[in-house]
Amino acid sequence: MVLEKAKIMSEKRFTLTEESTGKSIDLPIRSGTHGPDMIEVGSLYKEHGVFTYDPGYGTTGSCSSAICFIDGEKGVLLFRGYPIEQLAEQCSFIEITFLLLYGELPTKTELDEFEADIRHHTMMPESLGHFFNGFHHNAHPMAMLMGVVGSLSAFYHDRMDIKNPHDRDQFARRMIAKIPTIAAAAYKHSVDQPIVPPNNDLNYCENFLNMLFAVPAERYEISPVASKALDLLFILHADHEQNASTSTVRLSGSAGTNPYAAIAAGISTLWGPAHGGANEAVLNMLEEIGSADRCDEFIAKAKDKNDPFRLMGFGHRVYKNFDPRATIIRKACHEVLEELGVDDPLLELAMKLEEAALKDEYFVNKKLYPNVDFYSGIIYKALGFPTNMFTVLFAIARTVGWVAHWAEGQADPEARIGRPRQNYIGEAKRDVTDIAKR
Ligand code: ACO
Repeated sequence: MVLEKAKIMSEKRFTLTEESTGKSIDLPIRSGTHGPDMIEVGSLYKEHGVFTYDPGYGTTGSCSSAICFIDGEKGVLLFRGYPIEQLAEQCSFIEITFLLLYGELPTKTELDEFEADIRHHTMMPESLGHFFNGFHHNAHPMAMLMGVVGSLSAFYHDRMDIKNPHDRDQFARRMIAKIPTIAAAAYKHSVDQPIVPPNNDLNYCENFLNMLFAVPAERYEISPVASKALDLLFILHADHEQNASTSTVRLSGSAGTNPYAAIAAGISTLWGPAHGGANEAVLNMLEEIGSADRCDEFIAKAKDKNDPFRLMGFGHRVYKNFDPRATIIRKACHEVLEELGVDDPLLELAMKLEEAALKDEYFVNKKLYPNVDFYSGIIYKALGFPTNMFTVLFAIARTVGWVAHWAEGQADPEARIGRPRQNYIGEAKRDVTDIAKR
């Protein structure tokens, strides 16, 4: 655990002056390896009787973390210090899983041992498979994923001690191994086909593709192009520091909850269209736009403050330059479609829309660039995934980040239950009137 390295107290102080009394409030500053300094405001209420107010937590740090770093102004993304571009080029998703969990890239022996163990845990409990029968076939696969992952807490509860690092590691490996199996079963249920069990001769992505697309009656050939493309997309989605779903998992975990239940909470947050649901929303939006000559009409809609429509796949809370993952995916999108021999007019349309938006003053001034999800859906579609599985694919990859952050939070000696404050704007204190007189 390298968490301690990130907690560097700075010599610098920050002073606030309360205008009415002229009283000074002296606050310590904490510096990390990279990124802006952080003012420690934890003593404000106890010593000065005030809270801080930051809806959406845009400038609030909730923890120290050694897992992931983003510089949104420069478009930098590092996993454990390594740039995403190098990891995407040189490593597999399983190597990156090891890196995110344990802090270092694995040796060949470590990787072999880790991968074998992940393969060993791919099966879901037999009775868990029956849970799917409780869902209607048209249930959204994210709803099924959330419900069934949460239900894992019923299978692994009493025997797990979250204060024990070995138990935490076992949870991490189990969760990462089982999520593709559960995700594929959700899909099979939605298309009324038998669940295909995992085949541990296959690697992580091949196994998932096989569970998803194979049927008992026919031979299914796993496309190496599809498996490689999926591996890349999983790498790019594996972690993104304290985003909404990861913060949900940490917050849930801070109460000491069963970690499978905490992951289910993360899945529910990811599903929202402002977060991981955007990849599905982008494809629906491109289909709705239909042709390049309607790009301007939709850009105008996105700019209209009276219209709730937003250009899906554009904008990011942290990236105010480009999203480095979007650059990698954009390039991969062209390569994958060419290798698969897919000619999708939606790719052409997406490029036209991107070009039009990037020339538009509104998007330029607000620093709105394509995010990771603008192009990912086009690759998923070319690989044969139905649109409602796109966010499920994101969830499989992000499970690694969720689990790594959950474990880091559990091991952090500074961690406390997450409990934000509020600015109360309701009625002032008043007395109850008797019901006959109201
Ligand atoms: N289309 C049009 N206008 C936009 C867009 C967009 N996609 N995104 C932001 N804006 C505008 C907002 O209306 C706001 O304008 P204002 O300052 O005049 O009020 C300004 O840009 C800033 O936007 P906020 O919503 O305040 O930024 P925030 O950081 O809270 O939201 C978010 C970021 C949620 C990603 C937003 O850009 C968005 O809704 N994008 C579309 C959904 C999307 O692609 N989500 C995926 C994010 S990546 C991920 O989670 C994997």
